[in-house]
This record gives sequence, C-alpha cells and structure tokens, in this order.
Amino acid sequence: MAGSNKKSGLVFSKRASAKLNSLLHKVLMDVRPTPNEIAAVNAASNNIIGRLREVAPKEVEIVLLGSISRGTQIKGSSDIDIFLLFPKSMDERKMEEAGLRMAKKIVNKNESYEIKYAEHPYLKLNLFGINATADIVPAFKISAVDEMGSAVDRTQLHNEFINRSLSQKQRNDVRILKSFLDHHGIYGAEAMITGFSGYLCELLVYHYGSFSGVIEAFANIRIPIVIDPINKKKVEDAHAFAKRFGKDFVVIDPTDRNRNVAANVSGRSLGKAVFYSRMLIKNPTTETFYGKGYSNMNAGAKLRVMQNKLCTNIDAIAFRLPNISEDILWQQLAKLRAGLSAELKRHGFGLITSFQCLTGKTAVIAFMSDKNILGHSVVRGPNAVMGEPADSFIKKHRNSLLMLFDEDRIISIEKPEFKSVHEFIKSYINGKNKNFPSYLTNSRATLYSRDIPEEYAKALYETIQSETLPA
Ligand code: UTP
Ligand code: MN
Repeated sequence: MAGSNKKSGLVFSKRASAKLNSLLHKVLMDVRPTPNEIAAVNAASNNIIGRLREVAPKEVEIVLLGSISRGTQIKGSSDIDIFLLFPKSMDERKMEEAGLRMAKKIVNKNESYEIKYAEHPYLKLNLFGINATADIVPAFKISAVDEMGSAVDRTQLHNEFINRSLSQKQRNDVRILKSFLDHHGIYGAEAMITGFSGYLCELLVYHYGSFSGVIEAFANIRIPIVIDPINKKKVEDAHAFAKRFGKDFVVIDPTDRNRNVAANVSGRSLGKAVFYSRMLIKNPTTETFYGKGYSNMNAGAKLRVMQNKLCTNIDAIAFRLPNISEDILWQQLAKLRAGLSAELKRHGFGLITSFQCLTGKTAVIAFMSDKNILGHSVVRGPNAVMGEPADSFIKKHRNSLLMLFDEDRIISIEKPEFKSVHEFIKSYINGKNKNFPSYLTNSRATLYSRDIPEEYAKALYETIQSETLPA
C-alpha cells in the first residue's frame, strides 16, 4: 500500500497518494475509451470476423486477441488484433500463405491494406469510416507453449492468462501505465522505441497490483531485477536469471518460462521509467504525468538559438527514404550514426552527442559538436631512443605542422585533413566509402549544417526535446 510504513525508499506519502488518486481519476477519463468507441470498435471487429468466417474453412478458428479483447486498450488507439488460428498439423509456411490469402480476400474496395513483417507476416487493414486499423495475423491454435509452432502463437496464451488474472481496476491501471510510458516516449517494444510492450505493462500491473505499485517499484529498482509474475515471492537468484537471459531486467512470461517479456527494453528506456516514476512520486501532477508540452513552431530558429547558447554546431544528414519497414531503417540509422560518431572522434572533433529521428517519409541523423574544437590530427611516434624507427617516423611525417618531444615519445601535429565537421561529413558522403547501410545509401543523403529545412529541423527539435530532462 502506498505510504504504508512497511516500504522503504521513495514511496507515495499519504498526501501524495491523495494527490495521485485525483490525478489518476482525471487521467482515466483521457485513456479509457468511451462506451461509443467501444461499441464502434466491437462492431468493426465483429464485421471483420464475419467476413473472414465466410472465406475461412471450418477448421480455422477466428478470434479477437490483444488489448481490445483484454480491456486494456487506450482511448483513440484502436488497433484490432484478429488471429486466424490454424490446426497445428499444417506446415508453417503454408499456414502463413493461407492466412494472408484469406485476409486479402476480405479487403473491400474502399479499404486499403499493407503486408507487414514482424516476427511473422500479417495483414494490416485500414478500415473505412472508422479511425481504426485491424491486424489480421495467421497463427497455430495451441493450448500450451510446448505446442508452439510460430512466435505469434503465444498471443492466445497471453490472452487467456490476462483475462483470468486482471481485475477491472487493474485493466484501467494498465491503460494508465501505457499512457504514462507513452507520454515519456517509452511505450512499445519496436526498435524505434525499445520500451515496454502492452503485454509487459499488463504483467507489471498484475505483479505489483496497481499503477502506483508499478511506479513505486520502478522508483526503487535495483538491477539486476527478475520478476516472475506467477510466483509473487522475490526471485532469489536474480543474478543467475539475468545471466541466463543476458539482460538485467527480466520479466518471465507466465505462459512461457523461457521467454523474457522485457527483452526489448533498453537500458535507456528503463532509466527513463525510473526517472519519471521518481518524479511522479515527488510531484504527482498532470504536468509530471504527461510531460511538459512544447511548440515545434520555428524549430530551425530554436535550434540556432540553442546552438548559440551552448557554443555548439549541429550537422544533420537527411535521407530520402525507400519503402522499407521502420524497424530496419531505424537499425540502419543507428549503425550509420555510431560509425560516423566514431570517425568524428577519431579525427579529433569535439563530438558531444548525436541524435536520430524517423518520422513518416523523413529520416535525420544529427551530430552536435563543440564549435571551438576544430579537429586535429596528432600522431604519436616511437620512443626517441629507438633511433631508426624514429628516423623513419620523422621522414614519413616531414610535412607535419610541428613535431615535439612528448615525454619520451615524438609526436607529430599534422595539418588537419578537414577544417570542420561539415567538411568531414561532406567527404564522408561524397567519398566512395562502403560505410553506408544498404537502404540508406549516400545517394539518398543530403547534409545540412546551417539552415536545416524546417521539415527536418522539426523532427530533430522534437527528438532533442524528448531526450531532454525536464528542468
Ligand atoms: P500488440 O502489439 O497489438 O499489443 O500485440 P497490445 O497488447 O494489443 O497493445 P496495444 O494496446 O495494441 O498497444 C498484440 C498481442 O500480441 C502479442 C502480445 O500478447 C500482445 O498483447 N505479441 C505482440 C507478442 O507476443 N510479441 C510481440 O512482439 C508482439
Ligand atoms: Mn493491439
């Protein structure tokens, strides 16, 4: 219980609990779908299930799973998860093909769809006349995890577990938790977020009993932490589990004890969860819950003001994007950003940090560096007592700006190859280097160092805001 004297560490005091309760009451109004929305979504999902029924053979079971069927979805984010459950006797590839074929058959003229590839292919249907999408996912019908034939088969087991384990109040607490994490940019397991999935939120609320229980747990976390939701007692050997799963945050899936439901949570996302939970306990207000709003108007100008204040430069590379999944593009951006960051450091530039963003048709990576550190190139030569190697070093570096004895070594200060980060990146893009990832080739890249076009400046400004600690 919040405020009870059994707990130690940072917990909600009696006064803070009262404030939190009234805050959560308000939040619930924002996150719980209205009866109208629920009716509309149910009608839409029944309609799709009916259409699928007409094209599917008898042995295929058609079910609604995911947050809508568990009562844990957030208002206005109506993603309907419909599964086509095939008999286990079928071949996996054949099952997928058959499922996608049926799903394509039911698409109406006024609707559109995309085939998506997550752990498995599925069809995303954009519904007409209602602001919702439906994922139609082929899987095997199973009743326990040892029968599992494809990764998405677990979903039906998750549904069964959550539906028998969570109270109505806890389902609303899941909605509140999802919203809290989402407002701080850490809801979702996808590569771009590497945060908390819906199922993970459900398990956390189940394990800690309530939203405030989860928040207090985050606020006082000690890593490694291993949570075993069906064994409420503390996991004794956290270190061994953490080692086994290769992560220091492990939530064992009650339906599959070999799976870490928190596998995709990055250290940075866990860190943010801890930070914002502590903040909420200290100050349970709407501003803490939702994060401070900001305007992204005149983002380019705002970035310039920021650079002036910090004495930094921002060099940004924008990409024209191919039609490739966000997950892959995100990973390629990360790889390119890491490679370029290492090169900038190696050339002696004052790189402070870097950012990446991906929104719809735009991707940007940006490097923030100290304006006054212009790059240099110091080469450390051999020890001066090593006569011959020293001679050849001196000969090789005869065009250097200056050679010095540095303790017992000879060092050479070379003429910088590049006068600015801008020049360096320009040559990196124009050079024939093979460092560009397959979908983000240098021919798709444009470098901006001053006057970043507003579209990119906005994306970048938003990313910087989301990474900035509140004042
Ligand atoms: P969703 O991503 O739609 O999550 O996956 P959700 O729980 O419905 O949450 P929101 O409200 O839409 O954001 C549906 C279900 O599929 C399973 C989980 O059981 C999840 O609840 N799933 C999804 C996995 O097992 N693994 C995944 O990588 C994704
Ligand atoms: Mn869903």
